[in-house]
This record gives sequence, C-alpha cells and structure tokens, in this order.
Amino acid sequence: MILLNGNTIHLQGKTLSYVMIRNHEEDLLNYHFGAKIPDMDYSSDPDVNKESFPFFRAPAEHPNLSSFPQEYPAYGRAEQRHPAFQLVNALGNSITALKYKSCRVLEGQAAEIPGMPAVFSGGKADTLEITLSDDAIGLTVLLSYVVYDEYDIIARSAALINDAQKPIVLRFAYSCCVDFPVHDYDLIHFCGDWGMERGLQRTRLHKGMTTEIADNTGRGSRWNNPFVMIARPETDEDHGEVFGFNLVYSGNHSTVVQCDHNSHLRVMQGVSPTSFRWELQPGELYHTPQSVICYSARGMGELSREYHRFYKNHLMRSKWVNRQRPILVNSWEGAYFTFTEETLLQLAKTSKDAGIELFVLDDGWFGKRDDAKSSLGDWTVHPAKFPNGLASFAEKLNAMGMLFGLWFEPEMVSPDSELYRAHPDWVVRVPQIEPIQYRFQYVLDLSRDDVCEYVIDAVSKILGSVNIAYVKWDMNRIVCDAPFEGYHHRYALGYYRIMKALTEAFPEILFEGCCSGGGRFDPGVLAYMPQIWTSDNTDAVSRLKIQYATSMCYPLSAMGAHVSAVPNHQTGRITSLKARGDIAYAGMFGFELDLTKMTEEEKAEVAQQAAYAKHIQPLIRDGDLYRLRSPFETNECIWEVVSPEKDHVFMMACRVLTVIMRSRYFDPKVRFRGLDPDAVYEDTVTGLRYSGSLLMNRGITLSYEFKDFATITMELRKV
Ligand code: GLA
Repeated sequence: MILLNGNTIHLQGKTLSYVMIRNHEEDLLNYHFGAKIPDMDYSSDPDVNKESFPFFRAPAEHPNLSSFPQEYPAYGRAEQRHPAFQLVNALGNSITALKYKSCRVLEGQAAEIPGMPAVFSGGKADTLEITLSDDAIGLTVLLSYVVYDEYDIIARSAALINDAQKPIVLRFAYSCCVDFPVHDYDLIHFCGDWGMERGLQRTRLHKGMTTEIADNTGRGSRWNNPFVMIARPETDEDHGEVFGFNLVYSGNHSTVVQCDHNSHLRVMQGVSPTSFRWELQPGELYHTPQSVICYSARGMGELSREYHRFYKNHLMRSKWVNRQRPILVNSWEGAYFTFTEETLLQLAKTSKDAGIELFVLDDGWFGKRDDAKSSLGDWTVHPAKFPNGLASFAEKLNAMGMLFGLWFEPEMVSPDSELYRAHPDWVVRVPQIEPIQYRFQYVLDLSRDDVCEYVIDAVSKILGSVNIAYVKWDMNRIVCDAPFEGYHHRYALGYYRIMKALTEAFPEILFEGCCSGGGRFDPGVLAYMPQIWTSDNTDAVSRLKIQYATSMCYPLSAMGAHVSAVPNHQTGRITSLKARGDIAYAGMFGFELDLTKMTEEEKAEVAQQAAYAKHIQPLIRDGDLYRLRSPFETNECIWEVVSPEKDHVFMMACRVLTVIMRSRYFDPKVRFRGLDPDAVYEDTVTGLRYSGSLLMNRGITLSYEFKDFATITMELRKV
C-alpha cells in the first residue's frame, strides 16, 4: 500500500512500514524502515529537522545532510558519507544535489527494467515512482519502489536521466540506499568458491566501519552472493529483526555497509563500481537493476520463507515453477567425456529401470569434444559419439520412456573450434593484448549484437530440431580482459538478452542454470530459469552447509541436488547411499553416477530413492522451510518442510560425526516448527502419532545410528 500524507510518503507491506519525508528544503529523507507504524504526516517530528551543529548554520545554508538519513544520497555537497551515485556532470565536476520534485503511483503494476529481469506484479503490486532532480547540472533521478500488501518486500531501483546538453559520465549508481538510525547490527553475507559455495559469515558492525561485499568476476556470485542480511545482534532463526538485500543481477555487484561517525548505518546495493562507467548522452536514461529488500521481525527463518514465497510467485517466470520436475540422471560424474551412444543408452536403460525419468547428457556431446580443450561454440553433434545424430539418440530415449536433457555453455568459445577460427574477434579481449585462457576457453563478447544473435541461433537450432525437455546452461570462467570501462554491465545485458530470447522461444523446456557448480546463484538467473545447480560438490556432508546457506534466500525448488558415487569425487568422503539421498531430497532431486556399475542391492535402493523423491517433491517444492539446527554452529543439520496447509511434513536430520554411545536419554531432541498445534500428526513409517503442540514444544528424540554421517528422515501427515 502506498500512502501519501502531507510531506510523508509511506509504503506498507504485510507487517512493514517504509517511510520517507520531504523536509522544508525538499531533501528526500529516510524516516523509518521496520515494523508497521500508523499512517500520518511525520514531517513535523523534531528529529527530522535536528542537525549536529544548528548554531553555526547561516539561514541561507543547506542543512548538513551528513547527519540525516537519506533516500538516495548525492556526492560532493552537503553529504560527506558514501554516496548512492557519482558522476562527472556536464560542467565537468562531480558535485550533485538532488531535490524532491514529484511522485506518482502506478496501481497494480510493478516497475519494469528495460533489458534486465525484475519482479512482476501478478496483479498484486503497486509501484511508487519518485522524481528527484538537480536543475543546476541537468540531472533527473527516478526512484522506483514496488510494494505488495501480502509481502514484507520492497523492490527498489533507480533510473538516471541526462537533461543537460552535454554527456554525463556515471561512475557508479546503486539501486538502493537505506539509512538506519542506529548501527548495532550484524552483517551476514555468503562468501565461497568452487565446491564450497555460500559460506555463511556473520560479523558485528562497529562505528566508523565501511565494508563492501562485492563480486567482480563478471559472472555474479562466484565469491560473494548478492544476498546480504542486516540483523540485530540477538536475531536468530526465530526471533529478532532482520533485513535482507538481494540484487536481481548476474554481473559484478556490490553491497556497501557504512557505520558512520554518528552511529547511523547506511546500506547500499547495486552494480559494482569496480570497472563501471556509463556515458549518458543528452536525453538518455541509465537503469540500475532491482534490489529486493525484505523485512522480518521474526528472525531469519521467516525472512527466508518470505523470499522463497515471493520469488516463486513474483520473480520466477518459468512454467516449471510449480510443476512436477522429472527425476533425472546426469552423465557428468558417471561418464565425464568418455562415452558412446551405446554406453549412454545402457546408462539410460538402467536408470529408467530404477524409475528415473530424465536423462541429461552433460558436457562432451558436440564438435570434437573429448576433453575440455576444444569445441565450445560449435553446437553441432560430435559425429563419432553420435553417428546417427542427436535427434535419433533422443528418439531412442523417448522410445524407452525417458525425457532427454542437454548441456550447453552458450557464452563460451574454445580457441580450438570452428567458431573461433571463423571469428577470432568475437572473444572478450583488448586487441593488443593476448587474452587470458581459463579451462582452455575464451568468453564470447556478449556486448555485440551479432555475437548474441549467433548464440541464440546456434542453440535454437538444436532445441528446435531435437526433442529436448531440459537444458543445463553452464558458464565456466571469469570475464576478464574487458575491452573498455563499463564492459561487464554490457556483458550482463547481452547475457539477459540471450537468456530471455531462448527461454521465451522454448517455454516448455526446463532450464537449469549452472556456473562451475553454484557460481552464479542469483535472482537474475531465477527470473528465467526455475532451478540452478547448487554446487559441483556432491559430497553429502559438504552439501549440508551449501544447501543450508543457499536456503537463506533461495527456495528449495531452485536448488539442484544429486546423489553421486563414493568415494565422492570432490572430497573423497564415503557416506551411505541413504545419507546421500536423504540430504538431496531437500532439493530438485537427481542422480549423477554410473548406475550400470552399481550392485543389484544398490540399484534397488536407488529405485526407492527415485520413487520417494517423486513423492515428496510437491512438499519440498511448494512447502515452507524451517531450519532447526545449523551445520555452521553444531555437529548436526536439521531441516523441516511444512506444506502451506500444515498437513504434511518432512524432516531431515544429520549428525555429522558420531559421539560416544550413551543411554538414549542423552540423545538429542528436535522441536518442530510451523505445525498446527491442535492437530495430530502421524509418522507415515512407524504409525506413531504426536500432537502438533508436543512436536513443537517438547520435541522428540532423534536416535541416530552410531556412525559418522548418520541421517534420519521423518514424514508426518495430519490425521
Ligand atoms: C561445470 C559444471 C559441471 C559439469 C562440467 C562440465 O564444472 O558445474 O556440473 O557440467 O562443467 O564440463
């Protein structure tokens, strides 16, 4: 709801208020962000007009904006803290001062961002657009706020318009700025790398500290995810205030957190200033991506559930968001590059016999690719591996009753490829300098229209001629050797252009994003692809932390989770098939191993797992997640998923390392959450019955097997 009352602009969500005020000088100030407050004009509050040194202020002077919370702080005049944007104006200097001009409400609409993904309304959103301007330098800034009555979410973005007669150069422009009146918060962010994505970090903020959480690898979230939380020190899963910031963007991003000298806290999120530069000709606009801001007064668990619900309903566009996803087998860890049509058909047949529904052919099917050294860009079938062509292979799978899925790495080119030989100038590079190769490959220059068109065309040819149900879209290197400043943003726009074109042209295909595992797990990808490969690390124990931390922002329905062989190829660890399955159930389930090498007993267990994953998927996909015990803080990891109707429950508990055998009395208890306290729930395996209030208040004992990596699952139905 958007409420305009005198000089007060008030956004209300389900339980939140976000309040801005125009002061007597037409500066736009942030007044409150947090729990809902009444609708009234707050501009006469003495707080709004307070300053640090009022006695030394001449009547004609501007207020000292450095002591006020602001909506979109400008650089170079009355504000000395970190600005939300900086530019070289038409006069050749960098000073700017924005004044409030007007605002308008777009009822029932969500602001769209040209060329970039954004949240959508679904008839449920209103957008507030505020116009600010600096008439002296010819700059207009539009601030957009998409707000929903049903959610505690605000999606913010900004657009900068050059109204001057000469070009303006943007050095950076953040999507949002939120100024909090106090600084006693913790910063929670997600830092990782290949095989260890999204490591959860929690740091106390202190006065005078400016911190940046950024990723400049050109592909989004490799080292730092664009999701950051600001939490009260006492905030935990179930209690306390917490604010989330998540950028709908797959390129270089930055979140700046500044605790100033007056103990205020400023949080800004947007495209990373590193290597950014954008020239605006007279009359041109620059759009920032959108930052999805979320508020919870009931801990991080509620914040996560809010993001999950919101993304499933108002960000993810694929038809597959609420559809039953097929249980898949992926060829990568089972075969790598070494396969023939016959070996794959054998694997497919064995998988089909175990109830697996989709066969995904990973890397190695195209050009002359027998290792990582060639053929990226040549999206034509490998003739020696598929002498009868890919369509015929797909037909054989379909005849078996299996769907066919295919791996692509559309943004890349190998130096040893027909494509590179024909177009050596299509790679991201500076002409005079030899570009860096990673994994024997170059990045295609997606800032060029002709390159984007080639990629769309080459991938479409395969998707249009072979019966393909699923695509894994990979991206295996950093984007460097940028030919000009501001290149990375142009690259991101090219990436979105291709992804939009392909997902719209093939709406029935289930797309899964991937980036050397989970190196590009962000809402920009989710807007087009309903699921993302969470990590190349398929070790069940490592997956506890990776999936737990990923769930802080992203829904379980977005996480690819596979059972693989042991010893695990990434860690060497040996875990039971049961543990591998139990942990993978909390994601979009699949296998990534050579089933033909398994014993009959193992195959029977795989068949049971495939059937169970199919059965439990609607709950995992559509239910509410409760994290009951953290693998970052304890020797256990416990999660629980409850259906929206609270009548179906799945719980998984893992004790990582065994502890000494003692009486059952000392076994750990688990207390469930989110159940109907008045209902009776029945364990679908043992038939034991428990009241919802008992499960939530007393809890039940977990009797782990006495061994490392022991897991327990429990499924409950309301009686
Ligand atoms: C990346 C992906 C893997 C696999 C390989 C293929 O590493 O994350 O899942 O597809 O590429 O080369």
